[in-house]
Amino acid sequence: MSEYILEAKGIVKTFPGVRALDGVDLKIRRGETHAIVGENGAGKSTLMLVLTGVHRPDSGSILIDGKPVAFSTPHDAVDRGISIVFQELSLVPSLSVAENIFANRQPTGFLGLIDRKKLNDKAREALALFDLDCIDPSTPVKYLSVANQQVVEILKAISTDPGVLILDEPTSSLTETEAQQLFENIRRLTARGIACIYISHHLKEIFEIAKTVTVLRDGHYVCEAEVKDIDEDYLVSNMVGRKISDIYGTRPDPKSFGKTRFEARGLGRGNDFSGVSFSVRSGEIIGFSGLVGAGRTELARAIFGAEPADSGELFLDGTRVAPSSPGQAIALGIGYLTEDRKTQGLFLDFPIRLNIAANRLREFSRGFFMSEKLIEEGAEKAVRDFRIVTAGTGKSLRALSGGNQQKVLLGAWIGTEPRFLIVDEPTRGVDIGARSEIYGFLRALAAKGTAIMMISSDLTEILGLSDRIIVMKSGKVKGEIDGPKATEEAVIALATGTDEGACD
Ligand SMILES: Nc1ncnc2c1ncn2[C@@H]1O[C@H](COP(=O)(O)OP(=O)(O)OP(=O)(O)O)[C@@H](O)[C@H]1O
Ligand SMILES: [Mg+2]
Repeated sequence: MSEYILEAKGIVKTFPGVRALDGVDLKIRRGETHAIVGENGAGKSTLMLVLTGVHRPDSGSILIDGKPVAFSTPHDAVDRGISIVFQELSLVPSLSVAENIFANRQPTGFLGLIDRKKLNDKAREALALFDLDCIDPSTPVKYLSVANQQVVEILKAISTDPGVLILDEPTSSLTETEAQQLFENIRRLTARGIACIYISHHLKEIFEIAKTVTVLRDGHYVCEAEVKDIDEDYLVSNMVGRKISDIYGTRPDPKSFGKTRFEARGLGRGNDFSGVSFSVRSGEIIGFSGLVGAGRTELARAIFGAEPADSGELFLDGTRVAPSSPGQAIALGIGYLTEDRKTQGLFLDFPIRLNIAANRLREFSRGFFMSEKLIEEGAEKAVRDFRIVTAGTGKSLRALSGGNQQKVLLGAWIGTEPRFLIVDEPTRGVDIGARSEIYGFLRALAAKGTAIMMISSDLTEILGLSDRIIVMKSGKVKGEIDGPKATEEAVIALATGTDEGACD
């Protein structure tokens, strides 16, 4: 028996114009959690797609238990015990929990008909592994929380009894508590001898869950280390090849803020939120904190005219406005960077340059016509300014790494120089280097006079960047804290306050 359950040696993978992997090595021991870190576009997901038979490497070898293997299809990899939970969830929303877990491998009975009882029993057994016996296996997965959908996804991946389970950015849509639950689940899997490959941009998590870590940079293998022997600085300097000291920059003096740019008075909509009032001054970044379900995204969508509020008033530079569609909001100078780049905001199969132009049609037009030249110039500037890693602005967005997609989206909005910009989870899935760049861009935009509302579940980011923090819970504003004076405890106390006895 080899010391390693899975090994990759000298993997090279090129796409037209990009060398995504350039001689990468990886060694995974049985039952360990092995983290892979690297900046956006470093090649992490590509390496995983090679290990799971989705991409065929140009050269290099894969060994399982010391023996070379070649995968021609993802099926081959599954057969050899390699399973993956993708960066973006891939369940069928209308199918039941049980059907999703055993997709393609449903137990059949007489005449090959699916044996529903057997299917549900087996699913119940699987759910019990993670103490989720309370979930009825016949529930369509669309009714499950994101965290529980992910559990289903993991159960689906381990239903084939793999030796290695790959998790690509599994915590990017989870709350802190849900992430802790996931870690507990990972520990249960490794205790059963399953090795987990864990990809995340949250370096704290690496120290919490992983035993070993491999660092990639620009498609190259940089180093491998035992987590107990290293610290965060060591990881960061190996990932980005430089030291990053202050990722949030310095906060401006509140005296430099201008007049009230945006104001909401008593906004409400159904059960989503009610009585929400706040104002943001020109130059100010106001952070919105709260648990998932606190109503922050619903509030943002209302302000943006996507689902208008049914009570309350909005003011931009002192004038009452009532956008009833995103188009009207954009025309007024309101921008909204959505939290979910997969379903909103980006056109994955369209070229980068059109994604950047999408919100700026007026700026890129001459008379009635769109100017190809202006679009191209604008796109190239965004690619340069945001250091988007791509072979060209004509490439489709799908070919970009997750973090680079986020930078395209941000580039599209910042280019419009909105009066009021809402950014919803602006750095989800974004690496530490790009994150500090994004904070810099937001600061620079604010300095030019834009008022910014930042919704974030990342408490460190809220505390690091906000000039003022508003905490929401169950659709209501629970309090406001001065940014520089805020502490984690103070924000959490407001976000979880039990004054109404509601449990989120
Ligand atoms: N299907 C594809 N076609 C063309 N280029 C691709 C494709 N998939 C990935 N790439 C390129 O390969 C490089 C590595 O991308 P990959 O998705 O592996 O990065 P990553 O480390 O997972 O980044 P992130 O942290 O942003 O998810 C990037 O430059 C990306 O643009
Ligand atoms: Mg990736």
